[in-house]
Amino acid sequence: MSTDHLATTQRTHLCGALRATDIGKRVRLGGWVHRSRDLGGLTFVDLRDRAGIVQVSFDPQNCPAEVCAAAAALGLESVVLVEGEVVARPDAMRNPDLPTGDIEVRASSLSVVGPATPPAIPVARARNENLAAEELRLRHRFLDLRRPELQENIVLRHRLMQVTRRYLSEHGFFEIETPVLTKPTPEGARDYLVPSRVHPGEFYALPQSPQLYKQLLMISGFDRYFQIARCFRDEDLRQDRQPEFTQIDIEASFVGAEDIMRLSAGLIGALWREAGSDVPSTIPRMTYADAMERFGSDRPDTRYDLEIVDASDVFRGADFAITRAALEAGGRVRGIRVPGGAALSRKQVDEIEAEAKKAGAQGLLRVKMTNGALEGPIAKFLSPDAAARLGLSDGMLALFVAGPDRVSNPALDRVRQDVARRMQLVDSGASCFLWVTDFPMFDRDPATGGLTSVHHPFTSPRPDDLALLESAPERVRAQAYDLVFNGTELGGGSIRISDPRVQARVFTLLGIDEATAQARFGFLLEGLRAGAPPHGGIAFGFDRIAMQLANASSLRDVIAFPKTTAARALFEGAPSTVPEADLADLHISINGDHS
Ligand code: AMO
Repeated sequence: MSTDHLATTQRTHLCGALRATDIGKRVRLGGWVHRSRDLGGLTFVDLRDRAGIVQVSFDPQNCPAEVCAAAAALGLESVVLVEGEVVARPDAMRNPDLPTGDIEVRASSLSVVGPATPPAIPVARARNENLAAEELRLRHRFLDLRRPELQENIVLRHRLMQVTRRYLSEHGFFEIETPVLTKPTPEGARDYLVPSRVHPGEFYALPQSPQLYKQLLMISGFDRYFQIARCFRDEDLRQDRQPEFTQIDIEASFVGAEDIMRLSAGLIGALWREAGSDVPSTIPRMTYADAMERFGSDRPDTRYDLEIVDASDVFRGADFAITRAALEAGGRVRGIRVPGGAALSRKQVDEIEAEAKKAGAQGLLRVKMTNGALEGPIAKFLSPDAAARLGLSDGMLALFVAGPDRVSNPALDRVRQDVARRMQLVDSGASCFLWVTDFPMFDRDPATGGLTSVHHPFTSPRPDDLALLESAPERVRAQAYDLVFNGTELGGGSIRISDPRVQARVFTLLGIDEATAQARFGFLLEGLRAGAPPHGGIAFGFDRIAMQLANASSLRDVIAFPKTTAARALFEGAPSTVPEADLADLHISINGDHS
């Protein structure tokens, strides 16, 4: 791509964009000293800018002695302006690994405009170069961001944002900003709170998502809205979570779930194409109930099989205390069959069991088939036809969890993932999209016994399940859908409740009384009573999409200034303490010693 338009009064070309076609041109470049070699009077400097690296030579034959001396003394990562002529490199000196490797710039002048102290971490050039520890790199983020890999990721992120804006604008969506200082929105995490100085004792919440505002915009008649929205959630962080993250947030009126899924597939297609990746022409669908039954997860990784089977019937009647107790308590015995798994060592299977236990299972029952016979600690409890009934063939390992689905689902989900990794079943080049639909409306909180929303309290029940709301709330399915990609939840949304009477019934079931509903969501309820169109939407995790398309292994690699898993910004040093006087202004005093 031409970079001519990037010429300024200080530079004529980008370092990394020079090619053999530029030979003979006089150029002015600006960049960072990536590397410098002094060959006794003749100095070669690798000069780097965001387009790449070019070799600049300082030869006493072409350039004044004081310029050559200055070049020999250049500090790494200093910023310099160089003027010179693009010349062909002698054949023996060509570097086919470098896009600029056919040429070099023979310098005639040099000025150091940004001298640098020695860099705290090296600026890596190649993707596979050894990197400094991540904590150190985050501490010196401005240096790490000079790394070409991160620069490419951040530029890809920019391109994905432009594609999003273009696609949605072309489909009639308006980009509308919603407040950041707001009221708590229920998305299931803790809020980040901001104290009000002028209203002692009162707080704003940073939005966990623009959910309520986008619904209000539908009520106001903007029938298609989107926003590339910053969201804030104070929750336990994992590799695919950041406390501050970005959503592609979408809402539309006069739509059903099909409309949102179709629009979403179009947007995802545009994004994937921008990154040069393929998307299937249709995205398969699976109900929540099926996903849990077959994969133990509502975001199954469908790049590999290892589907869960129900082996309860095979274990029924077996003289084995563990499975008998589970079955008598109304639970089941479910597990996965691993072709070739018989070759896993006992230690390896113990490690897989440890994963199951981390997810809450009491243990993992194992049996393998070798030379036509079942082997393993539980083989003796099984009848002769068990292998056939379980569909086991030679070389297979079967791993079971006995207990209620609430326990076996998360355990088998983890076991599946661990086994797939160990058996190298994950095709890293595969792209498996999946819509998971028909989520339940409610979950029961084991601690309180009360109902909680699976998505959020504004999600509409399926019309055919409305009659079950009060009589069998746990059987009510929501008009909710998640988009899953290779086992990661990329986005989730729903059709909303647009009838205030249904909203009131849902609040009652969630134990939110009228006064509380009014205090927390009064503005939405008023809106619903003011004439609300049927509406629904979705939000995609933009960072997660960028991470997938950049083939990055962490969200931190696609966010310019990310937080650590401990929710710290190491470079700027946030969060931080503030002077007593500032706290006093905010009517806040800190309890106890937190130093
Ligand atoms: P939900 O809570 O499912 O839905 O969020 C939508 C998507 O946002 C991404 N996401 C995150 N990404 C990075 N770090 C986090 N901490 C984080 N939390 C969520 C995920 C997720 O799929 N208001 C609803 C959407 C709607 O109903 O329209 C909502 O926010 O990719």
